[in-house]
Amino acid sequence: MTFEEYSSAGDVCTSDGEPISSKQADMNEAYSALASVYDKYNSESSIPLAAIAKRRGMEIIAPAPGVAFLDMAAGTGDMAMCFFEYQDIANHDAPSTATLVDLNADMLDIAKRRLGNTKWVKDGRVEFIEGNAEHISDIQNSTFDIYCCYLGMHNMVHRDRALSEAMRVLKPGGKIYVAEFNTGTWRIGKVVRRLLVQFVLYLITGTIGDRTMSLRLNRSALSFPSPPEFLQELKTAGFQVEGQGYRSIAYGLAALFSGTKPVECGSVL
Ligand SMILES: C[S@@+](CC[C@H](N)C(=O)[O-])C[C@H]1O[C@@H](n2cnc3c(N)ncnc32)[C@H](O)[C@@H]1O
Repeated sequence: MTFEEYSSAGDVCTSDGEPISSKQADMNEAYSALASVYDKYNSESSIPLAAIAKRRGMEIIAPAPGVAFLDMAAGTGDMAMCFFEYQDIANHDAPSTATLVDLNADMLDIAKRRLGNTKWVKDGRVEFIEGNAEHISDIQNSTFDIYCCYLGMHNMVHRDRALSEAMRVLKPGGKIYVAEFNTGTWRIGKVVRRLLVQFVLYLITGTIGDRTMSLRLNRSALSFPSPPEFLQELKTAGFQVEGQGYRSIAYGLAALFSGTKPVECGSVL
């Protein structure tokens, strides 16, 4: 199966009746296998690159005091932690809130444990939702100032649905940020990206000891479109894109895309 075929695998039904593609079911299984070792490989083996990319990303996002932050595909909660740490340092912990959404209960359980004893949870400023980015029915229209999806969008089978949901749940003028591996549009960029993902794959395989699951994760990451293609998807979803539309992070190996929900959407959503 090619990467492209893998990224567009057909829909299947799950036991709870939620429409979910075969790719999504596969990814969910892979993330369950990965959950218990995710932070270890993320912070120790897969190079401090991931941590650097997240901190740098938060500096670029630069959330204002008191904003409502959606951490989509939150995984084990790294970006939500970065968000609150940033608020502490830059904004003297103004009463901002974070909602963590993830499809995978095992990943989200780790996020709950990691954030569980923090003042942010104790103050009732954190919410955890097990849900699908393509259909986040638990969240009302125009709820968030920031929609952040870090290394999660490549897992989504119908990115158009996820982006349409992002548009719906953002307030008018709200911002979307999506971080993914960056191939660039040139040949060497593609080779570099593939080598990086292969390297991470090697590290994951060694950690979780399951090559099938690692291959799934690898294929999924490689199926993400090039920056110009993804920027077009953002525009098609209705986001305004300024300038180049993305910033390079992690020494150019990743890209942080951004877009704004037009203010005039306020009358519609
Ligand atoms: C590579 S992890 C990234 C986690 C976290 N954002 C980080 O940067 O550490 C990808 C996450 O996307 C989640 N995911 C995959 N498909 C999803 C979907 N359709 N809706 C919500 N989360 C999804 C997975 O369960 C997994 O936790």
